[in-house]
Amino acid sequence: MTDDLIKNIKSLHTTQTGEERIKRNINLQTDDVVAWCKKAVQQADIIIGHGKNRYVYHNGVAITINIHSNTIITAHKINAKVRAMRESDYVCLPEFLYQALYIPEGEEWPPRNIINDPEIFVYIKDFGAQPGDLGVVAEQNGQVIGAAWTRIIPAYGHIDKDTPELAISILPEFRGYGIGAKLMKKLFEVLQKNGYKQTSLSVQKDNPAVRFYQWLGYEISDERVDHAGHKDFLMIKELGGMDKEQLLRNPEIQPTDEIIAGGLCAAYKVFTKFVNELERYDIALMDWRYYNDGKAWLSKGEYKWTTRRGTNKVKPICWISIWRGFFRASFFFGFDIKKDLLELSISQNAKELIRNAKPMGKSMRFLSLVFDVSNEEQLGDLYTLSEFRKKRVK
Ligand SMILES: CC(C)(COP(=O)(O)OP(=O)(O)OC[C@H]1O[C@@H](n2cnc3c(N)ncnc32)[C@H](O)[C@@H]1OP(=O)(O)O)[C@@H](O)C(=O)NCCC(=O)NCCS
Repeated sequence: MTDDLIKNIKSLHTTQTGEERIKRNINLQTDDVVAWCKKAVQQADIIIGHGKNRYVYHNGVAITINIHSNTIITAHKINAKVRAMRESDYVCLPEFLYQALYIPEGEEWPPRNIINDPEIFVYIKDFGAQPGDLGVVAEQNGQVIGAAWTRIIPAYGHIDKDTPELAISILPEFRGYGIGAKLMKKLFEVLQKNGYKQTSLSVQKDNPAVRFYQWLGYEISDERVDHAGHKDFLMIKELGGMDKEQLLRNPEIQPTDEIIAGGLCAAYKVFTKFVNELERYDIALMDWRYYNDGKAWLSKGEYKWTTRRGTNKVKPICWISIWRGFFRASFFFGFDIKKDLLELSISQNAKELIRNAKPMGKSMRFLSLVFDVSNEEQLGDLYTLSEFRKKRVK
């Protein structure tokens, strides 16, 4: 199908309206739309045929060409439609399972029949027959180009009978255009509608997808070695946090008091009280900074002091992020002091959080305590933990 197009590339043309439409749709700044499209055909990531049309994908743009008349019909940015998985989509699962494998760069891909290995095949075997078999697909011009699905099976990411485990992949040519994010948003909705409270997954530690999962709110809860000797992370995401919306995400917009007040609404009073009170502990909020890994502006409470010899020292006490209607304070402690933390005079909720905290970080030596704060009663725990952390500094 690529050959037809390449053979007839000289005959490709479009109409005046076609030209205007293409320019408008993809915000194209060129006078020669046809030449631009021809180049895209030659450099296409993939060309897919569908009836009389060919879809040429290049750098996030889809160009539709009528192969009978060689007319360039339109072009638009890739914008896949996401929908629930149907029984008729199950035939695609072997391909998406294969695409979900992680093969480090430079290593050769195994043959496709590797998915028949029982440890791998379990992710799709008789899919649809058990509770927890739920899925969504992304469709671009009628073609399924991505899938995310869950199962409750004795596989690498299994936690318990109430936690469906995730598998996801997007065809390589369609990665990096927001389709994975869209799929996951829909899948979380489907899982919640089916009454699930959390979802898990297993991912090789070196797989860059770890960052995708963290971006989605999955947290590392364990590190294990799989049957092939790879180091894997077990990750869990609690559902129900879907309506929590993190703010201050645009790197171009520096947070101001006004913006923060607008996002926090009633919790702004609580936030300012917290910040002012911290000052009494000599802890100051540092200027907001945009962090690329979390894709948001964050601040942190810092304790600064000078040693007897005159050296200036700084210790981060807690990280702060702003969410619609609340602020989040995250503390990190050494895992070995879990017992000391439990002895503090703090609320039962905070103790529960500490009890359930799993080791994390590269060396699994930390625990994180995350508080979503919207009312004043919660501040007491934050002060106690701040002071505790500050004292352990010296
Ligand atoms: C992982 C995967 C599903 C992500 O889907 P995608 O459509 O490429 O991801 P999106 O474009 O929706 O990315 C959403 C966000 O996730 C993050 N992200 C996605 N892929 C990432 C990667 N490889 N490295 C770092 N961050 C990544 C980005 O921060 C992005 O946010 P941004 O738009 O603000 O930059 C897809 O790349 C894929 O199929 N990979 C191969 C299969 C795989 O590894 N599956 C997991 C097996 S455990």
